[in-house]
Amino acid sequence: MLADIREVLIISTPRDLPVFRSLLGDGSALGMHFEFAVQETPRGLADAFIVGKDFIGTDDVALVLGDNVFYGQSFTSFLKKARKTVEDNRKSVIFGYRVTDASAYGVISFDEAGNVAGIEEKPSVPSSDYAVPGLYFYTNDVVSIAADIKPSARGELEITSVNEAFLAQGRLSVTLLGRGMTWLDMGTYDGLLEASNFIATIQKRQGLFVACIEEIAYRNGWISKDMILEISKEYNTEYGRYLNMIALDRISD
Ligand code: G1P
Repeated sequence: MLADIREVLIISTPRDLPVFRSLLGDGSALGMHFEFAVQETPRGLADAFIVGKDFIGTDDVALVLGDNVFYGQSFTSFLKKARKTVEDNRKSVIFGYRVTDASAYGVISFDEAGNVAGIEEKPSVPSSDYAVPGLYFYTNDVVSIAADIKPSARGELEITSVNEAFLAQGRLSVTLLGRGMTWLDMGTYDGLLEASNFIATIQKRQGLFVACIEEIAYRNGWISKDMILEISKEYNTEYGRYLNMIALDRISD
């Protein structure tokens, strides 16, 4: 939403997809358009471009993983810049973020001049501390690139293989996110707890919700004040009261 993307395909397991569908609806309440697709077996992240082929059509596309959290003041400008690089320079964009142990991720290696030399998926000995977060902006030919890649040793169509293909063609731009940005991965129990505590701390301190999708839709001009007021009445909770404050312009942008 912060990248000004209004059409979203939500991909999940046969078991979980109905829950996302009932939670999110068709997107019209947010001035958006949602579609849903099942990934029958966990074939890897790059499978998103096979499952999503018809949805993507001839458009450029972004992929974000549902268990990744991004938070930081300059985040929207990173997103807008990434979109522009795809649209104007016809290059795909991934990000790099310093972590204590990069071995659980795609890892970027750099040459002596500091240029990106390669990307490796979950190396036991990482060549740098820079992991690749689960947020990717691609030119439309990601669809044909993903269709051609072969499963890795763990049997998955790796997003790293897609990124390597763009790098080999000289069409990959890597943006390093600085220490002012927060990237968290909720793919483990500990990671989920840590992310929950982080978000709870910020929200409690500021009195502002993080990633309130109705607030973002309203500030993007996708839904009206009346719509946000209506939605606020559906929740007799702190969240509903927050939406009400937004509708009454009690919280500034
Ligand atoms: C996946 C990707 C990896 C990336 C990570 C980000 O890992 O394969 O390159 O760094 O997401 O969260 P996985 O979710 O398979 O552990």
